[in-house]
Amino acid sequence: MADTFTITDNRTGKSVEVPLHDGGISSKGLRELDPNLYFYDPSYMQTAACRSTVTYIDGDAGILRYRGYPIEQLADQSTYLEVAYLLIHGELPNAAQHEKWVFDITHHTFMHENLRKRFLEGFHYDAHPMGMLVSSLAALSTFYPEAKDIENPESRNKQVLRLIAKVPTLAAACHRFSVGQPFVYPDNNLDFASNFLSMMWRIGDKYEPHPHLVRALDVLFILHADHEQNCGSTAMRVIGSSQADPYSAAAGAAAALYGPLHGGANEAVVRMLQDIGSVANVAAFIQSVKGGAGGRLMGFGHRVYKNFDPRAKIIKKMAYDVFEVTGMNPLLEIALKLEEAALSDDYFVSRKLYPNVDFYSGLIYQAMGFPLEMFTVLFAIPRMSGWLAQWLELIQDPEQKISRPRQIYVGHGERDYVPKISRG
Ligand code: CMC
Repeated sequence: MADTFTITDNRTGKSVEVPLHDGGISSKGLRELDPNLYFYDPSYMQTAACRSTVTYIDGDAGILRYRGYPIEQLADQSTYLEVAYLLIHGELPNAAQHEKWVFDITHHTFMHENLRKRFLEGFHYDAHPMGMLVSSLAALSTFYPEAKDIENPESRNKQVLRLIAKVPTLAAACHRFSVGQPFVYPDNNLDFASNFLSMMWRIGDKYEPHPHLVRALDVLFILHADHEQNCGSTAMRVIGSSQADPYSAAAGAAAALYGPLHGGANEAVVRMLQDIGSVANVAAFIQSVKGGAGGRLMGFGHRVYKNFDPRAKIIKKMAYDVFEVTGMNPLLEIALKLEEAALSDDYFVSRKLYPNVDFYSGLIYQAMGFPLEMFTVLFAIPRMSGWLAQWLELIQDPEQKISRPRQIYVGHGERDYVPKISRG
């Protein structure tokens, strides 16, 4: 049987045969049939906007792979910086490549003093760190005007190093500013996660992070590094498609991540658990979600995963390792009860709603001492490598043009202007 589809315009009787390519049907066929006919697909439920080699997800089987490597193996055996190299370059680094990559990232962690003094310190004292991060990422483009030269591979590589390296520095600076503590400079002797923790928490000379917490944070960074064409990566690609510099595109991607339906869900989950307050209130909360009054069960459901989110599985297990060091997060009991109640309730089961990456990650961040406002920032730090991998792929893809969807116009037909005096 041929791997093709036939589209017939029943108004004219004209048909086109469209081949199936890598599981997708090109919209060119429809264009051939009638250039003024469009697929109506709000929120891109059924639209593939690119061909990609970065990340593979099978939502029914609960599979996530970066460049072909299962997320479980990467979380177990790799490090975030190695994973970032894999996402950016397509292959795992050999020893020399790894050494150079870690050296290069480590030596791009400092930010321009004016970015901190003139820009970050200009924010109001209670500014949300995610708002600060979004704006400071965009501001970075003004420090590196050569980043506009997106056709130049050397320049691209430089901006990639800078963005991956500087995002933890910016993130920690946003936190230190919000609590009125002096900024801590990066320490080139520390690994990526330890350096971030040091910039967050060091007071004076003393700071010794617990190795289990460093590893847990690094694994969380691995799990959050990329997730194919999610809202943030799509924003990165859409902005990048206009040939904007990668700092501006990354600011847009971070802004998309900020929303509570996306990366902002980790903060929203903990606020929801705090509002529920006790295991005794779980049943009533579930009823209020089902009835519509309680909003959504945050940390549940996913556009792609319809069975389980493999990241959530790893995070749930890791939460217990973290709590061994930090002590139990009292909200865990409510979260477990909520999960149990939802997974045995037909409303959630029939809609295939399962815990996603954000359901348990917030509990870990909270146990590690991060303020709630920092949770989405913690998501953005590693997602930077995914955004950049998606951006690099876009820039080098000859099939890509400026993103410019069409619309189905359903407004008024032509009508004559009415002067103010004659309007009712
Ligand atoms: N609680 C209650 N009902 C839900 C939920 C939820 N968390 N998620 C989906 N539904 C219902 C929704 O009301 C709809 O019901 P009906 O068919 O009766 O109208 C049905 O399930 C399908 O939902 P949808 O909104 O059409 O699904 P979507 O693919 O557009 O949304 C989602 C995916 C992740 C935005 C959504 O599940 C959600 O809002 N979840 C809560 C927020 C969250 O945890 N987000 C983090 C996602 S994972 C990390 C990331 O992307 O950054």
